[in-house]
Amino acid sequence: MSQYVIAIDQGTTSSRAIVFDHDGNIVSTGQLEHEQIFPKAGWVEHDAAEIWNNTREVIGTALAQANLTRHDIVGVGITNQRETAVVWDKNTGVPVYNAIVWQDTRTQSIVDELAADGGVERFKAKVGLPLATYFSGTKIKWILDNVEGARAKAEAGDLLFGNTDSWVTWNLTGGTDGGVHITDVTNASRTMFMDLETLSWDEEILAVFGVPKSMMPAIKSSSEVYGHVHTSQLLREVPVAGILGDQQAATFGQAAFEAGEAKNTYGTGCFLIFNTGEEIVHSKNGLLTTLGYKLGDAAPHYALEGSIAVTGSLIQWLRDNIGMIQSAPEVETLAAAVENNGGVYIVPAFSGLFAPYWRADARGAIVGLTRFVNKNHIARAALEATAFQTREVLDAVNADSGVDLTELKVDGGMVANDALMQFQADILGVPVIRPKVTETTALGAAYAAGLAVGFWNGLGELSSNWAEDKRWEPQMDAAERDRQMRLWKKAVTKSMDWVDEDVL
Ligand SMILES: Nc1ncnc2c1ncn2[C@@H]1O[C@H](COP(=O)(O)OP(=O)(O)OP(=O)(O)O)[C@@H](O)[C@H]1O
Ligand SMILES: [Mg+2]
Repeated sequence: MSQYVIAIDQGTTSSRAIVFDHDGNIVSTGQLEHEQIFPKAGWVEHDAAEIWNNTREVIGTALAQANLTRHDIVGVGITNQRETAVVWDKNTGVPVYNAIVWQDTRTQSIVDELAADGGVERFKAKVGLPLATYFSGTKIKWILDNVEGARAKAEAGDLLFGNTDSWVTWNLTGGTDGGVHITDVTNASRTMFMDLETLSWDEEILAVFGVPKSMMPAIKSSSEVYGHVHTSQLLREVPVAGILGDQQAATFGQAAFEAGEAKNTYGTGCFLIFNTGEEIVHSKNGLLTTLGYKLGDAAPHYALEGSIAVTGSLIQWLRDNIGMIQSAPEVETLAAAVENNGGVYIVPAFSGLFAPYWRADARGAIVGLTRFVNKNHIARAALEATAFQTREVLDAVNADSGVDLTELKVDGGMVANDALMQFQADILGVPVIRPKVTETTALGAAYAAGLAVGFWNGLGELSSNWAEDKRWEPQMDAAERDRQMRLWKKAVTKSMDWVDEDVL
């Protein structure tokens, strides 16, 4: 009887369940999108109950599609949108507020208040992150400060916090009936509260934020048996054995296990992760220091990360908010109808600018408009924005590491776009390489779980599963590349200094 691992990928736009075989190939998939809730400018929420319902449903779909039962599944791995904060009542299992999504900027005033004493890098040496709306910490504080009764309940020990990995794991393992309240080191490193050296919650920072430690999940490694699926669920009694935040999972799924290896994932946003091995490296160029993975009792691996908030979601914005396209791939058709961007640059600073700038005062800008410009140029500029932003992050990685990356492994939904990948190679000046399995996020979570239950015997076996599908070589000449980057950087300056007290 063949055996399989199932990965749950609880993402920003959808939840997926994917069954993998021993070779790391996809056997079946279930996927459901959930509602993106935008109550005000800058606010982004999800309904955590909808996310859990969808998760259960996609597990059912994936099993049914391949005609499998729980007896065929040796372990469950979980990966997730990171930083998104869920706070729920441990006695009822009901969230006290919608999940506040990583893209949400409502907590800027909390950031400013905390930064008044010591600046935005106040906790960076300890946690690897600047103070920013992006991370979970200020979102938890916002819920405790603004939801009626929440602080009192939290102080009484009745509320639990988690990124969606913790939320899904708690529910999967029984919820109010004995659910385990845990997270892994990679997710914990996105809260603002975990000490990078000790891998434990920092009581001092929790106190500054006013977040009771009793709300925080226990921090575990990325690969060990945390508990078993509750008897009420389809996967009952299967071990839950791996958790990695989505970007770290993609790095793991790309088999970038060693120091010096890197990948870039093109989804809702883009996240370039550079493995620094067992060394904690502090960036001088706007990158975050984060956990890469930790396998059981082995030493943790760290990473530098360049986080870009808006890439694929700019294409979704053209589709959903502007109505310029009906589906994401249509953007390729429009862009292909013109030879260049017609002088247009789009800086999608919808949540401010993340890496390498970290400018909360920036907002989106379309610059270079003339009477000549049409929607084809806009489509092209939207795609190019992804490539330019990635180049800036890669430059930061090269500067921090002192060694230039000679190629870039890529994955995620946007790498289906051939023209974008060619432009990416052109703008980077190094080859861009896509693996056969581009669902690396789910694959990484499956690997973490499969290692813990002995389905795979070690990293070597996983490395041999990795196979190249396609490679794009740079073709643009250096002078044109430099010209494009100069104009892009000029466009970026136009998005800055926008937010003030009068701006929504
Ligand atoms: N052909 C295409 N050209 C450009 N962008 C595309 C194309 N196809 C999909 N996309 C974009 O890719 C993104 C989807 O990629 P993916 O499924 O990897 O997202 P994701 O980040 O994993 O989602 P989640 O945030 O839910 O995890 C969407 O934002 C979509 O707009
Ligand atoms: Mg994803």
